[in-house]
Amino acid sequence: MGKLIKTLYSKTTASMQHSFIREILRVTTGVPGMISFAGGLPSPASFPKELLKGLFSEVLDKEGDDVLQYGASDGDPVFKQIIKDFEEVPSLPDDEIMITVGSTNGIYYFTRTLIDPGDIIICEAPTFPGSLTAMESCDARLVGVEIDEYGMMPDSLRETLERLIKKGEKVKFIYAIPEFQNPTGRTMDLNRRRAIIEIAMEFEIPILEDQPYRELRFEGERIITLWELARTEFNNPKLVTIVKSFSKILGPGLRLGFAAGPPEIMVPMVKWAQKITVSPDCVTQRAAARFIEQGHMHKHIQYIIDLYRPRRDAMIKGLETYMPDNVKWTNPEGGMFVWVTFDETFDTDELFNRAVENKVAFIPGSKFYPDGKIKKNELRLNFSYSNEEQILEGIHRLASLL
Ligand SMILES: Cc1ncc(COP(=O)(O)O)c(C=O)c1O
Repeated sequence: MGKLIKTLYSKTTASMQHSFIREILRVTTGVPGMISFAGGLPSPASFPKELLKGLFSEVLDKEGDDVLQYGASDGDPVFKQIIKDFEEVPSLPDDEIMITVGSTNGIYYFTRTLIDPGDIIICEAPTFPGSLTAMESCDARLVGVEIDEYGMMPDSLRETLERLIKKGEKVKFIYAIPEFQNPTGRTMDLNRRRAIIEIAMEFEIPILEDQPYRELRFEGERIITLWELARTEFNNPKLVTIVKSFSKILGPGLRLGFAAGPPEIMVPMVKWAQKITVSPDCVTQRAAARFIEQGHMHKHIQYIIDLYRPRRDAMIKGLETYMPDNVKWTNPEGGMFVWVTFDETFDTDELFNRAVENKVAFIPGSKFYPDGKIKKNELRLNFSYSNEEQILEGIHRLASLL
């Protein structure tokens, strides 16, 4: 029997990295006294349990006959319109948006639509291995492009594209997380967004924009998405497909997200959905629709921001107070992560073992690199899950190991 099972998952880089992360989470979760900055989990305090309880029951009472039937593969039309209104694109055509089972599902359908085995996807290095796993399951190969404090570096992107295309490789798309990036917490600034779009247009390579953290901005000005920028300023509505998620604002257990992009891509994505998920969960879509329609969303997002901002502040304060001078970190304006950088020779894989013995956990930076070119002197800290007191104590424990 074993011989019949495909070995894809044991062979690919990102899925191995992702398994490492899952293993780290397994060994650090539920350990008494452990302060974990490892997971990428929202705080359970951010889940609107009471409201959802009422809304689910309302949906079943009033629309049960409808929502317990099979639903449309591109998502419930009512929910789609509510999302369009919420996203301030009310007249977006229906074939340019689909509801997905979380954003990973959208990333998977997008990849399925564009990738033939062996084709290349360019992504940020470091980046989020969960998405890469979905991409590798379509037999894509991943090539990382360095990022700095403003996001993916245009010169490196151009050099990489030129090098790959010269070798006859098929580069199918660029994957970017422009806001409060996982794992670094960095945000791509407007100039950088323009530069990346210009290069993508020059090489005629589409962009997949992953935006699960966009609503969690604690301060600073909101920046236009790559999707919106390409459609408006660059008059290029076909270049960018965006995926967004309700995981970080309503709860990842709902498995709800959406994708918006050109019909040339959305239509085949919906065909994949017909074959694989059939449709997103109809009850959940209508409950989320009511959540937005009844005006809870903005208030709820503000509640999460007020919950996370002091946690981010506590983490930065802890780092400033306890870390030695040669250690650097990002100070994100939102999201859930801080990225810490040590001297070049420092090894955070080694630090991880000592940290866990001392009841503090993080994810070593090496686990976020998409191809063989890893760096060992970085680590990711999550600040959404622990409270301020735990965060200060956890950073103190970590710093005392250095
Ligand atoms: C950058 C990024 N993309 C996608 C996801 C997955 O989101 P979803 O739960 O909507 O599949 C995450 C979750 O942590 C993420 O950080």
